Amino acid sequence: MGSLDQPEEHLKNIHVFMVSFPGQGHVNPLLRLGKRLADFGLFITFSAPETAGLSIRKANNIADDEPTPLGRGMIRFEFFDDGWDFNNPNRNDLEAYMAQLELVGREKLPQMVQKQSAQGRPVSCLINNPFIPWVSDVAESLGIPSAMLWVQSCACFSVYYHFYHKTVPFPSENDLEIDVQLPFLPLLKHDEIPSFLHPKNQYHFLGRAILGQFKNLSKPFCILMDTFQELEREIIEYMSKICRPIKTIGPLFKDLKSSTKENAIRADFFAAENCVEWLDSKPPQSVVYVSFGSIVHLKQEQIDEIAHGLLLAGVLFLWVLRPPQPMDPKAEPHVLPEGFLGRVGDKGKIVGWAPQEEVLAHPSTGCFVTHCGWNSTMEAVASGVPVVAFPQWGDQVTDAKFLVDVFKVGVRLCRGEAEGRIVRRDEVARCLTAAIDGPEAAEMRENALKLKRAAEEAVAEGGSSYRNMEEFVHEVARIGGNK
Ligand code: UDX
Repeated sequence: MGSLDQPEEHLKNIHVFMVSFPGQGHVNPLLRLGKRLADFGLFITFSAPETAGLSIRKANNIADDEPTPLGRGMIRFEFFDDGWDFNNPNRNDLEAYMAQLELVGREKLPQMVQKQSAQGRPVSCLINNPFIPWVSDVAESLGIPSAMLWVQSCACFSVYYHFYHKTVPFPSENDLEIDVQLPFLPLLKHDEIPSFLHPKNQYHFLGRAILGQFKNLSKPFCILMDTFQELEREIIEYMSKICRPIKTIGPLFKDLKSSTKENAIRADFFAAENCVEWLDSKPPQSVVYVSFGSIVHLKQEQIDEIAHGLLLAGVLFLWVLRPPQPMDPKAEPHVLPEGFLGRVGDKGKIVGWAPQEEVLAHPSTGCFVTHCGWNSTMEAVASGVPVVAFPQWGDQVTDAKFLVDVFKVGVRLCRGEAEGRIVRRDEVARCLTAAIDGPEAAEMRENALKLKRAAEEAVAEGGSSYRNMEEFVHEVARIGGNK
């Protein structure tokens, strides 16, 4: 096996076709993987339903079907019609939408793949992310190898796996509050397992959608994960033994050879506002960055309390107040308390969407109030930024547990939506002060910096994630190269 420093010419003919579920938290890690693979010399197609395509094209400089040189390879985008009009009211029903996407995807994906063959670019491998496990069925029917990029932690992967295989008791209608003990994981309280698995959760269909991937787990030849060995070593080794070989390749957002050109290829659904100059004007580690990812929409009352908490703590802050998602028609845009902006002056900045990676890498950023989506979790940890955990649902509650109790890089402000309470301003202020300059702040920052260094080593040449990526490229070239 030759070193990939001098990529063999044939890698350019290895075409990896990626299919993403149309959510920002899914698109980001898959595109980052695509960029990495292109950097190794492969030809990448990144595809997603047109709903995502529309936002991505608007916010970024991306054109359909124009192969663009990237690293030693190429990348192109291809968005597909999901068969529903943009104004179709059923779009607000995520469960119905997922069924529609499967119906259309099973028909369209083979056509897109065959079209590539006809154009002299036969597809060597299909890669999908969770919520669309049918992609591996399509790959199987076309005789093409497939891989799956898991976009959450390996710990959550393990919880879903054990739930699917019913190896231990989980909270049930008869026993709502039992704790869950799994090998190599800390004891998880009933509200620390991914909430979609809890009987009282309203989004059961999302749990079912994720579990669909476990039903299909024997089909992908490889499970890729946006995590790194040094972060979740024992659980990764254990799951690789009992389930399927897992290749950790994260943190994917840490672009190895990031050039301006590479960074220009992004798939944000909103255009980021410039906050870097404002951050530049602030002292080191002084700014609290507040952002709840791309989906979470907090109650207005909670927004009021956070706003007052920021004022009470007297901290500098950068706050992402995003408009509601179109699929959430009942959600109203948030409003800030009267006179808030006047009282804040230059101590705070509010934006609709931030360049999060840059914000977290900025020396002025002191801590991150986060909903603990896995992308935000990895970005915080690998940037060495301590967190104030404000999880809501899904894997966020589990990630919060890990950030606070296992990685020891944060404080917990709430336990999730299931708590059914509004976190009051004095609690917000107390937690912010603790994370910025309380007695534990220095220790949390030290722990975060250790993880940042470990993350950098993992993705650097010769590191655990780098080697896994290299192996994956060789494997794709070997098993998919003669398609
Ligand atoms: C969803 C789920 O909610 C999450 O729990 C799961 O782990 C992945 O899918 P989301 O809620 O959007 O994701 O959160 P997260 O995983 O943190 O992803 C958000 C992405 O958007 C991150 O990559 C973040 O950097 C980016 N972002 C967010 C910005 O670039 N700018 C912003 O202002 C906010």
